[in-house]
Amino acid sequence: MRTVPVFDARRQLGNIGKELIKAIDKVMSGGRFILGENVLEFEEKFASYLGVKYAVGVASGTDALSLSLTAAGVSSGDEVIMPANSYPTAFSVTTIGAIPKLVDVNPETFNIDPDKIEKAISGKTKAIIAVHLYGQAADLNKIAPHALKHGLKIIEDCAQAHGAQIRFGHNGWRRTGTVGDAGCYSFYPTKNLSCLGDGGMVVTNNTDIYRKVRLLRMYGEEKRYKSTVLGRNSRLDELQAAVLLVKLKYLNRWNERRREIASLYKVKIQNAKLNKRIVVPGEAEYARHVYHLYAVRSKKRDKLKSYLERKGIGTGIHYPKPIHLQPSFKYLGYKKGDFPESERACLEELSLPCFPELTDGEVEYVCSEINKFFPEGKSND
Ligand SMILES: Cc1ncc(COP(=O)(O)O)c(C=O)c1O
Repeated sequence: MRTVPVFDARRQLGNIGKELIKAIDKVMSGGRFILGENVLEFEEKFASYLGVKYAVGVASGTDALSLSLTAAGVSSGDEVIMPANSYPTAFSVTTIGAIPKLVDVNPETFNIDPDKIEKAISGKTKAIIAVHLYGQAADLNKIAPHALKHGLKIIEDCAQAHGAQIRFGHNGWRRTGTVGDAGCYSFYPTKNLSCLGDGGMVVTNNTDIYRKVRLLRMYGEEKRYKSTVLGRNSRLDELQAAVLLVKLKYLNRWNERRREIASLYKVKIQNAKLNKRIVVPGEAEYARHVYHLYAVRSKKRDKLKSYLERKGIGTGIHYPKPIHLQPSFKYLGYKKGDFPESERACLEELSLPCFPELTDGEVEYVCSEINKFFPEGKSND
């Protein structure tokens, strides 16, 4: 039977394997593995790619977020506004003892609904995390005025949005991560820009945040063995930075291919769309989407997922449960029904295979099976 994986890292590694091995070899023969020339060079190149002053390599996307929050002045007991569906983001808030203050999402973009932010702000609120979910920017044009009005920091969660762009105010197009007080990246192996393990990056134009994150990522050390603030160990390592330096050169090309795949899906998923039983992702007028995930929605999601599985097609669900319905977040005191759009998204979202090495033939096969599942003119309710 034909199979199409939802993601396959090995295909990318096959294409650039020799370059990667050369880079890894160089690090091994150099003998320096922590905070050496590769991390420094990658920080510089990534900052320049994004068009931002500073970048600091850290151990993961979660750490990038929690260190940025701390550097921005958020501490234990403070409230942080974030979307109710972005499951991985929440742990960066709880890790520092802060409280996630959840807000429902816009059903078209799956990103935080800016019109619902005001109601969630209290005297304890210190920051808003704008998550750019699935590769499309949250609408910072509508989020920023709330932050300005209440003196809140904006931390951008760009873990799924490497290279994505936003048209912000009169400043034109900018890369995500460069608009708020800090931008936070993950280089987890499935990401648009990924390493061979865990890794992350904080980017910022704010010199104070930059200095603090640098201190916090290594024991709070101003210089070796002189610790001035209580930091921790959260460093991007040399091997991962060397891998990322190789891959950064391909990021734009890979994102273009993701956009091509998205266009193909949009054109080819016909029957189902006509019957309005599957909704394909759109691109907001202020955003340039990089399709980290190709997230469709359908009321028949679970049946469609099983059908595709039987046809050898892998899919994902991001995410099956909103944060407030996870047992570990019960203490926040929310209940079912509090965030209806996030809850509905969790029941309807399905991520189709979408990665640069996917062939047109594979995308067409996925589409033809979706069209068979939703035969034209008929309802399979
Ligand atoms: C939106 C979002 N935020 C944060 C994270 C956390 O990143 P990491 O897994 O590198 O800690 C992820 C990664 O899964 C993510 O997708």
